[in-house]
Amino acid sequence: MKNRLDSNNITLAIQKKGRLTQYSIDLLEKAGLVIDTDGQKLYAKCRNFPLDIVFIRDEDIPYLVETGVVDIGIVGNNVVVEINALVDTRLPLDFGYCRLVIAVQNDSSVSSIRDLNNKKIATSYPRLVSQYLQKKKISVEIIQLNGSVELSPALNIASAIADLTSTGSTLAISDLRIIETLFESQAVLISQKKINNNKKQRLIDNLVFRFQAAQNAQKYKYIMMNAPQDKLKQIITMVPGLKSPTVTPLTTKGWVSIQTAIQEDAFWEKIQKLKQIGASGIIALPIEKLIT
Ligand code: PRP
Repeated sequence: MKNRLDSNNITLAIQKKGRLTQYSIDLLEKAGLVIDTDGQKLYAKCRNFPLDIVFIRDEDIPYLVETGVVDIGIVGNNVVVEINALVDTRLPLDFGYCRLVIAVQNDSSVSSIRDLNNKKIATSYPRLVSQYLQKKKISVEIIQLNGSVELSPALNIASAIADLTSTGSTLAISDLRIIETLFESQAVLISQKKINNNKKQRLIDNLVFRFQAAQNAQKYKYIMMNAPQDKLKQIITMVPGLKSPTVTPLTTKGWVSIQTAIQEDAFWEKIQKLKQIGASGIIALPIEKLIT
């Protein structure tokens, strides 16, 4: 693979196979990058940016970034922290949300982590778990497993597990209940701490800028509406946009057209209120890129 990488390009490592893979590719596309893959998810090239992409197992990404084998990586923050990788976190990516939790069997007598003193906990995150429990002055024996951790209590390997949960379905299927949350995580963009190559540094900054624009765009919708002039003040307070809305008089007397940006997470609540106070002909459009 080495000779396929262009040393003038920056190299990004993303997850080879898992929950972050598609989100990572989607982010690149939303940032306007056109990716050509070899179909086997080993290596990809960007057609319109000096960027090579390699598909790597999660656990290896922080180390490859730290040692400069690749320049940047997209990986769960849980992996970065567990490995204690010496990398810079450039951007939280707003996907891959999960929690590291301690869980016990539903019929277990354990009700809090204090009941786990001197017991065994199975996990793939020994560092995060031992640090957390040490702080709480709880002494446990950690059984390190690389997968299927949720089976451990049923197999009598451990009294509890510490594992990632996202939808909660794995815990539910395994008849486990959460007793403590240790760590909240999401995907992050990481880079090497010291990049001595100015050109690469500029390219990385440029990519971060593009990712931010794509992320911001997702948080807003562009809306246009007609409204009675006498409601304008109220509407501007409700949907101030990025600075202030664009207001144009309509040929219909006493009416204006308003254009503004509205935050996605308050979208329906605000649209309903706008309607109630008299706005009509409301059109909402997605924003492709947003540079604030
Ligand atoms: C994680 C974790 C659980 C599962 C929980 O594994 O180890 O098994 O996700 O997710 P849920 O709450 O949505 O059911 P993942 O699928 O990421 O892969 P892994 O088993 O290879 O770690």
